[in-house]
Amino acid sequence: MTAVEVWWARTTDARPGLVGELNAVERERLAAYARDEDKNRFLVGCAIVRRVIATKLELSPADVVLDRTCPDCGRHHGKVSAEGVQLSVSHSGDRIVVAFHPSAAVGVDVELINPAIDADSLASVSLSDLEAAELAGFAPTARARAFTQYWTRKEAVVKATGDGIRADLRKVIVSAPDRPPALREWAGHDGPVQLMDLPAGVEYAAALAILSDQVPEVRSFDAGPLLRS
Ligand SMILES: CC(C)(COP(=O)(O)OP(=O)(O)OC[C@H]1O[C@@H](n2cnc3c(N)ncnc32)[C@H](O)[C@@H]1OP(=O)(O)O)[C@@H](O)C(=O)NCCC(=O)NCCS
Ligand SMILES: [Zn+2]
Repeated sequence: MTAVEVWWARTTDARPGLVGELNAVERERLAAYARDEDKNRFLVGCAIVRRVIATKLELSPADVVLDRTCPDCGRHHGKVSAEGVQLSVSHSGDRIVVAFHPSAAVGVDVELINPAIDADSLASVSLSDLEAAELAGFAPTARARAFTQYWTRKEAVVKATGDGIRADLRKVIVSAPDRPPALREWAGHDGPVQLMDLPAGVEYAAALAILSDQVPEVRSFDAGPLLRS
């Protein structure tokens, strides 16, 4: 097993020159976003994927072939895939993160913690009874972060398997936020899953899942210089 590479960027890394590297599907999706922040998150995610793979394959970023076909409807909003590498994209707030592994499926999720969320009512649709009871044990001021940690751990798992929101998150049972990250139970996936939290600062929670029986080495990179080069 080689390392998982985790590449981080910010919406401020977006610049018009990156648009020229997108394919027709990506340009259409970019144009469809109404808000600049959504455009920038999407653009930077595409640019990290293209530039990291291009560097490894000695191609130009525009020549990297990506597929985003949704297995449910055939539209181009599915998990992005490329030949010869496993990858996962996530964006929230001003952060964009992309995880890469040469062979094992990966899932990454970053979420801006919203202190105003009603964690208890969100828990009823996305946490198991066990997790909801654990969440209730956190002080009210710690609950938004705790809920978001559950959420990112679950999302990382379902993004690694490719299920995404088709999975019932209440059944994807992960360890409590104050415990080492682990998938405790999920009948929807058969096989080993390694789960870890990623450091993303006080305002964010982030997690990474890899479908492997081995704990991977994780190498983190700032994509800023790569996007400016
Ligand atoms: C993917 C998903 C789990 C995460 O959503 P989120 O937290 O809002 O967004 P994130 O920023 O963390 O992730 C977005 C990335 O997930 C990836 N993604 C989309 N579907 C995915 C899936 N089934 N599994 C894994 N990754 C997926 C995409 O690469 C996307 O990046 P992009 O902006 O470059 O397209 C959720 O949006 C989802 O399941 N989407 C599909 C829902 C949908 O449109 N269903 C309609 C089916 S017809
Ligand atoms: Zn679809």
